[in-house]
Amino acid sequence: MPAPCNVVVLISGTGGNLQALIDTIQAGVTPARISAVISNRADAYGLQRAQAAGITTQVFDHKQFDGREAFDAALIDAIDSHQPHLVVLAGFMRILTPGFVRHYAGRLLNIHPSLLPKYKGLHTHQRALEAGDREHGCSVHFVSEELDGGALVVQAVVAVQPDDSPSTLAQRVHAQEHLIYPLAVRWFAEGRLQLSAQGALLDGQLLPNTGHLIRT
Ligand code: GAR
Repeated sequence: MPAPCNVVVLISGTGGNLQALIDTIQAGVTPARISAVISNRADAYGLQRAQAAGITTQVFDHKQFDGREAFDAALIDAIDSHQPHLVVLAGFMRILTPGFVRHYAGRLLNIHPSLLPKYKGLHTHQRALEAGDREHGCSVHFVSEELDGGALVVQAVVAVQPDDSPSTLAQRVHAQEHLIYPLAVRWFAEGRLQLSAQGALLDGQLLPNTGHLIRT
């Protein structure tokens, strides 16, 4: 049996996506191993989730570093000490330097709570409601140097209900995040997902601009 895909996960908060990954790995669905969880916040609840699963944790408080370049350089050193095949951003709320992104080109995934390219940045659920969108959702993508940019791998579409608030809509989007992120990591771990100059490839086929589209 080939060695499982070695993954380092970066978080800043609750770690719901981290937990979904841990669960699918423990269930034997995703042939991966999380060798470390790194947070820029010492109080991130996701650190407790990692520890409960027996995963090594590390904290790098960005406020202790003299600028983004120094922070990202320390992060690269810490990540590379685990020699990961894949780096997973799971609610890691820091803007990364171009050098960081280039260093992990083709092996850096992110999840974002909108149907990219719509609503990059923050407050995505509120913005979708304010715009009167009938559909909202979430996206997994390879990370490029553009904020919340890069080739899309998979998107889940969620219907907006007339009485939705940002929090009810967020709940349904989170439930989909916890399905599509493990799916994308599974594809990568199985050697089925790659980044090419044209976009993301699944089983050697170029995915559409939306990535693989799941309608709920
Ligand atoms: C998720 O909704 C994720 O999509 C979002 O942060 C949340 C983290 O939740 N990420 C971004 O907005 C990145 N631009 P979690 O800590 O429970 O996984």
